[in-house]
Amino acid sequence: MDLVETARAVRGNAHAPYSGFKVGAALRAASGRVYAGVNVENAAYPEGTCAEAGAIAAMVAGGDTRIAAIAVIADCPDPVPPCGGCRQKIAEFADGATPVTMATVAGASVTRRLDELLPGAFVASHMPR
Ligand code: THU
Repeated sequence: MDLVETARAVRGNAHAPYSGFKVGAALRAASGRVYAGVNVENAAYPEGTCAEAGAIAAMVAGGDTRIAAIAVIADCPDPVPPCGGCRQKIAEFADGATPVTMATVAGASVTRRLDELLPGAFVASHMPR
């Protein structure tokens, strides 16, 4: 199953009672393993987490550390872009050339390099140690 279809398959499990906006994400790690996540909202609104964050947390728990490709899907008019915070979270484990596929439930999709979505990303190499 490709990443968009994996993201689509898990999206229905999203916990989004407050926004009503269910999001699914799936990523392929450098190992080839696929990890998925959904948004998980909370009655204390700021405590909610995005679908991409869930997929990344699953990846790290699974012992992988590099994202080869990632996809995100929602039911919206245009392919859903990762929020700014998720772009930064993806950048922690990906390269500028990593493809990010944004999709709609209706079947539209667009793929962009991460460095098109987050030019000039702040990464670990900016910090002298
Ligand atoms: N959301 C995501 O899961 N990923 C994004 O990149 C955009 C936003 C979620 C967060 C919240 O649960 C809902 O969509 C509305 O913002």
